[in-house]
Amino acid sequence: MNDHGHVNDAYRAYGEIWSDIYDEYAEALKKSVETDRAVSFLAPLAKGGTALDLGVGHGHIALPLSKTGASVHGLDNSEKMLASLRASSGGDAITSHLGDMAQFDLGTQFDLVYCINNTFSHMVTVEQQLGCLASIVKSLRPNGRFVIHLNYPYTADFSGAGIYGDQRTTVIHIDERRAMVRFARHDRNQQLVISQDLWITPTESRTMPIKVRYFYPTELDLLARISGLELLERYGDWQRRPFDNASWRYMSVFRKAS
Ligand SMILES: C[S@@+](CC[C@H](N)C(=O)[O-])C[C@H]1O[C@@H](n2cnc3c(N)ncnc32)[C@H](O)[C@@H]1O
Repeated sequence: MNDHGHVNDAYRAYGEIWSDIYDEYAEALKKSVETDRAVSFLAPLAKGGTALDLGVGHGHIALPLSKTGASVHGLDNSEKMLASLRASSGGDAITSHLGDMAQFDLGTQFDLVYCINNTFSHMVTVEQQLGCLASIVKSLRPNGRFVIHLNYPYTADFSGAGIYGDQRTTVIHIDERRAMVRFARHDRNQQLVISQDLWITPTESRTMPIKVRYFYPTELDLLARISGLELLERYGDWQRRPFDNASWRYMSVFRKAS
């Protein structure tokens, strides 16, 4: 959506724009350490049954989770992301679906539905987020679990007012081969962070747009409750450390409300 409420394709096409460098980006950010921990957290909840990965991307979680014995499906709105998933080693074990997680019905129910790495925030309106939660409720088996992993909103360093206000620049990554810098703007009324990531290597420099709608755990719990989900557990990391005022992310486990 742009500031006038119209769909902006550049932001909706995240997967199409990022797919060709997503693995390198994830590796640069050392997400794989987290991936192992996330899979250890999720596997007992899938119980070797069925799981659905929302915004599956290249399958960084889905692929190792399927090796634990679960039958894993992945939903994504990017054909490029799904093509890359299917081409990966073990990709044929994942049942992939092209679709919008803001509203889906895969015609089956799962023991576990999960949405990892802040992916839920890619839905940039409350309506999309509510649509997603309603779809999740329909897609969960009676004793199923929904796991969501989000970054805790941190907006304090968007500098003040004026025509250049509510903006920040963050160095995301530097090594001997590449750097990534994020230029971000904060729309505090709509709880949006609108960014361009600048990816620089010796041979290329490109920008990649991202738009996310952030929210605090209290809003997530309210949206979930309205949708028919109840919170069971919340942690500050994948190793189940407590969620507290120093946490910069949060992992929440929901089930259908009784
Ligand atoms: C940050 S990536 C995360 C990928 C994967 N979950 C991981 O942790 O590596 C976000 C993914 O969500 C997908 N996505 C974004 N908005 C979506 C939507 N509305 N419906 C389905 N997929 C979406 C993107 O194409 C992309 O693959």
